[in-house]
Amino acid sequence: MMLVNWLISVINRRIMKLLVALALIAYIASVWGTYTNMRSIQEHGETKIEQRIDEAVAPLREKIRDLELSFTQRYPPVKFLSEKDRKRILITGGAGFVGSHLTDKLMMDGHEVTVVDNFFTGRKRNVEHWIGHENFELINHDVVEPLYIEVDQIYHLASPASPPNYMYNPIKTLKTNTIGTLNMLGLAKRVGARLLLASTSEVYGDPEVHPQNEDYWGHVNPIGPRACYDEGKRVAETMCYAYMKQEGVEVRVARIFNTFGSRMHMNDGRVVSNFILQALQGEPLTVYGSGSQTRAFQYVSDLVNGLVSLMNSNVSSPVNLGNPEEHTILEFAQLIKSLVGSRSYIQFLPEAQDDPQRRRPDIRKAKMLLGWEPVLFFVVLTVGSAGGRAEQNYPVLQQRAGTSSQ
Ligand SMILES: NC(=O)c1ccc[n+]([C@@H]2O[C@H](COP(=O)([O-])OP(=O)(O)OC[C@H]3O[C@@H](n4cnc5c(N)ncnc54)[C@H](O)[C@@H]3O)[C@@H](O)[C@H]2O)c1
Repeated sequence: MMLVNWLISVINRRIMKLLVALALIAYIASVWGTYTNMRSIQEHGETKIEQRIDEAVAPLREKIRDLELSFTQRYPPVKFLSEKDRKRILITGGAGFVGSHLTDKLMMDGHEVTVVDNFFTGRKRNVEHWIGHENFELINHDVVEPLYIEVDQIYHLASPASPPNYMYNPIKTLKTNTIGTLNMLGLAKRVGARLLLASTSEVYGDPEVHPQNEDYWGHVNPIGPRACYDEGKRVAETMCYAYMKQEGVEVRVARIFNTFGSRMHMNDGRVVSNFILQALQGEPLTVYGSGSQTRAFQYVSDLVNGLVSLMNSNVSSPVNLGNPEEHTILEFAQLIKSLVGSRSYIQFLPEAQDDPQRRRPDIRKAKMLLGWEPVLFFVVLTVGSAGGRAEQNYPVLQQRAGTSSQ
């Protein structure tokens, strides 16, 4: 009996152990099942949520892409230049009329351009189409203060250029042309850059020699109302040659004659913009004196090509850049009046003090040493007479035959 009891207890314990083990396995299996089930539900849910988010965000992403595309600046085409040929070029006064066209040319040629301007007469909008381009930088800076940057070439154009602007603050005009030029020459010396000075035909003053060649020393009233500009530029030239002789700085001096073209400031008081504005507004075209004083106007693209040719030449003495086609101021007034189709009349006012009577560049030096001459001229087209229409003369800007605009 004892043996039977012992056997039963042993069997019971084994069965119990087996039952406990089975229960444990069943429990683990059920926990595992629940866990994997929950995971798959969760994963499924997550995928669904992600899908929904994606669907909701897709149109927003599309909108952002559209906005980015619409804000992406499109620049004028720029040539590729190798590291060896690409120059770092500083243009002072680069936001002005001539400077902005020069900026366009040098940028499109593939150089790195830094424009420095205090926006006295220049405008940001003149160069805004380059803002953000990797080769372009615009610095708001007055050249009367020193500038520390690294460049290979400096086009020094900073200076007011029209009589009302340079007479507005004669002391500042003198400082810009003297201290400003000293600062730029100092920079050129420090970094070993070549400097081109934008000088002017005004260094010849009211000339006694006609046409004016580079050997003529000029006839300037040193205490007249134009002296701050004329003498400022004459001293600037003197400084260039002092730096060349004493410090070995490479200099180029362009004596620029009257220039016209787009981006001239309408209210800056230059004769071409004055006449155009007056003709458009139907106001009298104001001619100072008899109107028999002469000027010769070149188009800005011709000037820009001349400046770049001079900078890259080995000509260190001054060079005239201008159009030798000479007209009286009265002829210009009539030309612009007829171009605009205006009914304005021409009004004669008292002669301006120290106004040069004759102005025409002798450009033989530029032709011979740079192979440069202006290619754009005014010609008069006669249209009409056919079909009973009256003949009419239209002045248009035309390229000289057999030339290219470079
Ligand atoms: N346009 C012409 O017919 C003509 C003729 C002869 C010489 N130039 C010379 O060419 C250069 C450019 O003339 P423009 O017609 O383009 O004149 P502009 O007035 O349109 O440009 C001159 C630029 O220089 C900037 N500037 C003036 N003072 C400055 C200063 N202290 N610091 C920094 N920037 C300053 C102005 O803000 C402007 O952007 C001038 O040096 C001018 O004397 C022009």
